Amino acid sequence: MEYQFTNDWFGGNVYERGVEVDLRSVWTALLKSGSYQSILEIGSYEGNSTCFMIEQCGAKNSVNLVCIDTWGGSDEHVAFDHDMGAVERRFDHNVQIASSKVANDIHLSKLKMTSLMGCANLISQNLHNAFDLVYVDGSHTAADVLTDAVLSFPLLKVGGLMVFDDYLWNFGYEMHNTPLKIPKMAIDAFSNIFYDKIKIVHGLPSYQFYLVKTSD
Ligand SMILES: C[S@@+](CC[C@H](N)C(=O)[O-])C[C@H]1O[C@@H](n2cnc3c(N)ncnc32)[C@H](O)[C@@H]1O
Repeated sequence: MEYQFTNDWFGGNVYERGVEVDLRSVWTALLKSGSYQSILEIGSYEGNSTCFMIEQCGAKNSVNLVCIDTWGGSDEHVAFDHDMGAVERRFDHNVQIASSKVANDIHLSKLKMTSLMGCANLISQNLHNAFDLVYVDGSHTAADVLTDAVLSFPLLKVGGLMVFDDYLWNFGYEMHNTPLKIPKMAIDAFSNIFYDKIKIVHGLPSYQFYLVKTSD
């Protein structure tokens, strides 16, 4: 069986200060440096990033993965009339393939709901400090990204890694002519307000934003 992906947002090359950067190589380096056994993903779509994390982390250890997605699409998908039922079926298919490729057990829970409800659900189960890695790639409006960051932060272990996708993504701005429709303002606000509880991971390209939690 083959993967079924119709896009490569996750693995795409991005330009930073005139330099072309392959996000997969950045992630490979990041994931090599630690052990990621429990992962929370907000925004999975067809599972491109999910499968990458399964392949990378599942090669080293068993992985407990929680994927939150409405599988209803975001503004930008609705604009392009994506068939989200088919997207979800491809997610199910793709994660099955990824799990079969690795030697270790992959336990995947799908939370098909808004990230607000999904995070609230995990918080109510007392999963504080439970995740080694949180990947935030759901709705790209500033309000939703800020909400996702604030609600998932308590779920992240001290020492755990939080990654935001699309820090420099601009399409929402071009569509709606307002910074309220892109993640940057939310990531800036979050990283400023939580500055004494995080360490921004330096030396990496900034199309995505990487930070480590240093305290609760
Ligand atoms: C950019 S895609 C994720 C891409 C995926 N991480 C990858 O690398 O291929 C964003 C996803 O977030 C989901 N989404 C949008 N708003 C959401 C919300 N409020 N709560 C949960 N999921 C949401 C969409 O259904 C979509 O599948």
